[in-house]
Amino acid sequence: MKRRVKNNVYWIGKIDWELKKFHGDDYTIDHGSSQNAYLIQEKKTVLVDTVWDPHADEFINNLEEEINISDIDLIVINHGERDHSGTLPYIMEKIPNIPIYCTANSVKSLTGQYHHPEWNFIPVKTGDSIDIGNGKKLVFVEMRMLHWPDNMATFMTGDNILFSNDAFGQHFAVNELFNDLADKCLLISEAEKYFANILMPFASKVRDKIDEIKKMDLPIEIIAPSHGAIWRENPMQIIDLYAKWADSYQENQITVIYDTVWNGTAILADRIGQEIGKLSPNTIVKIYNISKTDKTEIIAQVFRSKAIAVGSPTVINDILSSMAGWIHFLDSLKFSGKKAAVFGCYGWSGEGNSVLRKSLAEAGFSVIEPEIKCNWTPEEKDLEQAIAVAKELLETE
Ligand code: FEO
Repeated sequence: MKRRVKNNVYWIGKIDWELKKFHGDDYTIDHGSSQNAYLIQEKKTVLVDTVWDPHADEFINNLEEEINISDIDLIVINHGERDHSGTLPYIMEKIPNIPIYCTANSVKSLTGQYHHPEWNFIPVKTGDSIDIGNGKKLVFVEMRMLHWPDNMATFMTGDNILFSNDAFGQHFAVNELFNDLADKCLLISEAEKYFANILMPFASKVRDKIDEIKKMDLPIEIIAPSHGAIWRENPMQIIDLYAKWADSYQENQITVIYDTVWNGTAILADRIGQEIGKLSPNTIVKIYNISKTDKTEIIAQVFRSKAIAVGSPTVINDILSSMAGWIHFLDSLKFSGKKAAVFGCYGWSGEGNSVLRKSLAEAGFSVIEPEIKCNWTPEEKDLEQAIAVAKELLETE
């Protein structure tokens, strides 16, 4: 069933309440998600994006309840990733000559995935537009690296809707469809988690793109992303949030992340958290065992933090593989402007702290000198070192 966004523009996507993982198993979804496609019925009938192929039959049935598929005049594919293009091959079986407006990189992506170089691709660049009748146009805006090289957004004049695809989205199932009706705490928290885990590596490009969009002076009234809620009430709030999040964002929070073998490193983590709380009761402290907590949630907490403390015992001259894998992920997200401390227990050789120190420095963190390096099970003399760690993490530059 289509649902009206504004005038002759309709949402026609898939709200997926069962989805738990995304990008393989890499991104954890806690509150469902959606793939938002849109149907524009002006003089021209336009389909903007599709849904992931497991939902192809449902999507095509929904579409056929609303229109004859042969009445579609053109398709806009804002991004070739499969969650938005997955149903395209099924539609193309029905209307094989339909023009597909997308970026040149999307042509590569779609051809690479579906092997149909004969499809009628119309590559577009920023500023290109197409008349869809009734005085309205679609204007294309390349959104390179937000978050793939092929992304673009499409602005519909007249109704002033920006179909932004992944940018400004959230993995969040919103039956109410619009931001003013959605659970607002969850909405902002899911938008932030999405930014931290997907867009953070491209923060500088986000800043440039926001400046470019502002300079284009588009009279945006609605931002319709491809996941989650449509921003209808104060749509510029999400653009402003992106500008803030892309600018070395941090709150008064310190996050302690660890793994442990015989509980010694867990005891150190807890004491670091306690000492931070004693020295600065207003600082939010979060403590996570990396093996017992979803890694994307921890990344969202790191995103909010001004500093982190990371602990692992020494195991086979190294750190635990759970921690090594997580730091590898952390490195890929290119955080900057945050402090880090290291801590850990060891029995024999004790390389863990230096491995953590090197890895966190390579991941862009300013690693402080104080640390806790504890031989065997922590005693009070080891735990007291948490005071110096806490003090230096709290110290502002
Ligand atoms: Fe929602 Fe990059 O796909």
